[in-house]
Amino acid sequence: MEATSPQRWLVTGANRGIGRELVRQLEARGDAVVAVVRNPDSLAAAPGREVIACDVADPAAVARLAATIGGGALDVVVNNAGVWPDDGQALGGLDFDELARCVAINALAPLRIAEALLPALRRGRLKKLAHLSSGMASIADNTSGGWYGYRMAKAALNMASRSLARDLAGEGIWSAVIDPGWVQTDMGGRAAPTPVADSARGVLAQIDRLDARTSGGFLHWQGGTTPW
Ligand SMILES: NC(=O)c1ccc[n+]([C@@H]2O[C@H](COP(=O)([O-])OP(=O)(O)OC[C@H]3O[C@@H](n4cnc5c(N)ncnc54)[C@H](OP(=O)(O)O)[C@@H]3O)[C@@H](O)[C@H]2O)c1
Repeated sequence: MEATSPQRWLVTGANRGIGRELVRQLEARGDAVVAVVRNPDSLAAAPGREVIACDVADPAAVARLAATIGGGALDVVVNNAGVWPDDGQALGGLDFDELARCVAINALAPLRIAEALLPALRRGRLKKLAHLSSGMASIADNTSGGWYGYRMAKAALNMASRSLARDLAGEGIWSAVIDPGWVQTDMGGRAAPTPVADSARGVLAQIDRLDARTSGGFLHWQGGTTPW
């Protein structure tokens, strides 16, 4: 059975883009948010909002984040923070340092955060892990090639989420990757067709529906699934 509000959510990358809009919509419906940001000055405090500074790629910072949550409970953890490599993603000019940074932030950091926050999730009622992936992670859908860093990192994230779902199913902890569409944010750019409010609303709907049946899946923001 779905827990009633208020729920306590943790959202990374909460200061702009999809993460910022997730925070706005969650707070509008009365949920409490732990907003994780890299720069603590990038998001103001608000009623029901706790702002915690954490560079998700820094293991010591993630350990401090878990210590700050301490004995508290979390209902949902949203691994939203992510990067699009600026350059070095095309064959012939691959920048492997940049690719490694992309994997560290987009794939390893969400797994590290999931592991570090498991005790708090176990104390929560909903027990959900959601990770922002991308249609660009889809191997089935890769007809144009290229974009090595982003595609590989998000595909690795997809695999981490599936293993989390399998490993934690016995405890009633659900994990899924969400495809948010192509969204009008700094990362998505002006050509993106989807307003950030629409994408965030769809992402929240998929997380609200996340259960034993959909855990381990690659969920599309408009419903249904994105092909692996
Ligand atoms: N926009 C799209 O079209 C699209 C499509 C598919 C998937 N996605 C995914 O959706 C998620 C959100 O994307 P977006 O469009 O909202 O991106 P965005 O506007 O570029 O925002 C990225 C967020 O991630 C944070 N972040 C990056 N590196 C971080 C780090 N090391 N530690 C902590 N926070 C960090 C940023 O914080 P700072 O402000 O400190 O940099 C920012 O809050 C990402 O995972 C992205 O890959 C987006």
